[in-house]
Amino acid sequence: MNKPVRKAVFPVAGLGTRFLPATKVMPKEMLPLVDRPLIQRAVEEAQEAGIEEFIFVSGRGKSLITQHFEIQPELRDELEKKDKLDLLEKLSHSDIPSGKVQITMQQRALGLGHAVWCAKNLVGDEPFAVFLVDVMTLGETGCMAQMIEAYNNVGGNIIATSPVPRDLTYKYGIVDVENEEKEVTAINAMVEKPDPKDAPSNLHILGRYILQPEIFTLLEERKVGAGGEIQLTDAMVRLMESQPFHSVKLKGETYDCGHHLGFIEANLAFALADPEFGEATYKILQKYIERDKNHAAA
Ligand code: G1P
Repeated sequence: MNKPVRKAVFPVAGLGTRFLPATKVMPKEMLPLVDRPLIQRAVEEAQEAGIEEFIFVSGRGKSLITQHFEIQPELRDELEKKDKLDLLEKLSHSDIPSGKVQITMQQRALGLGHAVWCAKNLVGDEPFAVFLVDVMTLGETGCMAQMIEAYNNVGGNIIATSPVPRDLTYKYGIVDVENEEKEVTAINAMVEKPDPKDAPSNLHILGRYILQPEIFTLLEERKVGAGGEIQLTDAMVRLMESQPFHSVKLKGETYDCGHHLGFIEANLAFALADPEFGEATYKILQKYIERDKNHAAA
C-alpha cells in the first residue's frame, strides 16, 4: 500500500518581473485566470486530487497569497444575507480550514530545488506533491488527480509530462521514457533544459510532481546546475538511482502562464471552457475575427 499524498508544496517566492508593472505590488500568483487567481486554481487542483494540506514556499512581498486563503466571516455573512449562494460556493474553495495552511520562507532565489528543500520540515517523512503555479492545465480531470490515480497503481515518484516542439526543449526539463505510447510509463532519464540536439525526447516536465521525502536529502547537497541554480531535476536524477520514477502523460492541454502571450491564451482557453463564460467569450472572439476580416477586405 502506497503512503497517501496529503500535502502539496507551492513554490511562490519568485519575483514575477516578467509581468511588471502588473506585479509591482501584486504577486504574479494572484493574477486572475478568468475569475480566480492562479494560486487558487492550483489549490483547487490539489483539492480535487484529495490533498488537504497546503505549504506555501513564500518570499518577500508575497503575503497577499496567504491572505487570499483566510476565511472572511463578514464577507460570508454578507453573501449569505444577500442569498448569493453561487458566490459563496466560489469563495468556499479559498477558505482553507484551520491548521491546513503552512508557510515557509525562501529567503534567496537559489532555484526550484532550493525552494522545494525549504519545505522539508513541513513535509516531514511522507510523499508530497509539488505545483508550479505558472503552469495551468485544462482537461476532463485535473492533472494532479490523473497523477494520483497513477501513483495509487505504481507508487514511487511521478512526473506529469506533455510533448513540446523539439526546438523548445532548452526551456524545460525533458524526460526519456520506456514507452512513449503509454500514458503511464517508467522514466529512464531526465535532463534539465537540454539543447534540442541533445534532448532525449520532446516530452517535457510540465510542473506537477509527486515526490518521496528522500528527495530532501539530495537537495540538501545544494548542487548547482543549469542556469547556475539548484535544480529539482538534478536531485530527481540522483533519486532515480534508488527509486522508480514514472511519467504520466497529461490528458489535456498545458498553458504556460509565466509569460504574457501564454497567459492571454490561457485566459481565452479557460473562459471558453467555462460553463458560465464560454458562450459569451466565443461570441466576443467571433466579433473580433469578423471585424478583422472586414478590415482586411476593405
Ligand atoms: C521548471 C523546471 C523544469 C520544468 C519547468 C516547467 O523550470 O525546472 O524542469 O520543465 O519548470 O515550467 P523553470 O520554468 O522554473 O525554468
